[in-house]
Amino acid sequence: MKIIMLGAPGAGKGTQAEILNEKYNIPTISTGAIIRESIKSGSELGNKVKSIIESGQLVSDDIVIEIIKNRLAEKDCENGFILDGFPRTVKQADALYDLGILIDYVISIEVDDEDIIKRLSGRRECSKCRATFHITNNPSKKGDVCDKCGAPLVTRPDDEPETIKARLEVYHDQTEALKDYYEGKNILHKVCGTEGIEATTKSIVAILEK
Ligand code: AP5
Repeated sequence: MKIIMLGAPGAGKGTQAEILNEKYNIPTISTGAIIRESIKSGSELGNKVKSIIESGQLVSDDIVIEIIKNRLAEKDCENGFILDGFPRTVKQADALYDLGILIDYVISIEVDDEDIIKRLSGRRECSKCRATFHITNNPSKKGDVCDKCGAPLVTRPDDEPETIKARLEVYHDQTEALKDYYEGKNILHKVCGTEGIEATTKSIVAILEK
């Protein structure tokens, strides 16, 4: 199964990708997570993109296309993968197609901007394994530490209110057009992302197992 998770920042792409990864045992590839790791490690790439990601703008197409190209060439992607956060522009979608990769399902998780703002301001992320929580919708069973690995939970720097606004603008300007792009290829499936995490998973699984 080759799946793309589409949706506004905070729509629940990462949360659902993590669940599908466990259920179907196919790798999740999150360009955001790869970029955050490179910032954390202080690599040349990380230093180059740090201010871009923290301002809520998109990293250049060429950089993310190169990241994806290398990652998809790895052995664990042979039998499928879940793309979380890629593509985000028509140029990126074209690049995926040019690589000869045919996607089976594009799942667009639909959440309005007002809910997104509430969600992202309550999101917490594990500083080690990157598991995602929410202070009310999906709290860690262990309070301020991750209930999977025990590391402290942190707020992502791009979850500050002004940056959330900028990311939503970028989504509407540059990424939302991908819904028409994939609708034209008959592989777009919209799911409601406001009925809780389990209900959203149920809707996605119903599409994948139809
Ligand atoms: P990225 O890491 O991809 O961030 P994003 O798209 O903004 O998405 P998020 O990770 O913020 O949200 P999500 O949809 O995964 O939601 P989550 O599951 O966490 O990208 C970050 C940055 O990297 C970009 O801004 C850009 O600079 C750069 N970048 C990355 N990819 C790029 C690309 N391809 N091109 C260029 N630049 C790129 O859920 C959010 C919260 O809601 C959580 O707290 C969760 O617990 C809660 N929640 C989830 N589902 C539900 C539900 N159904 N009901 C209630 N609460 C829920």
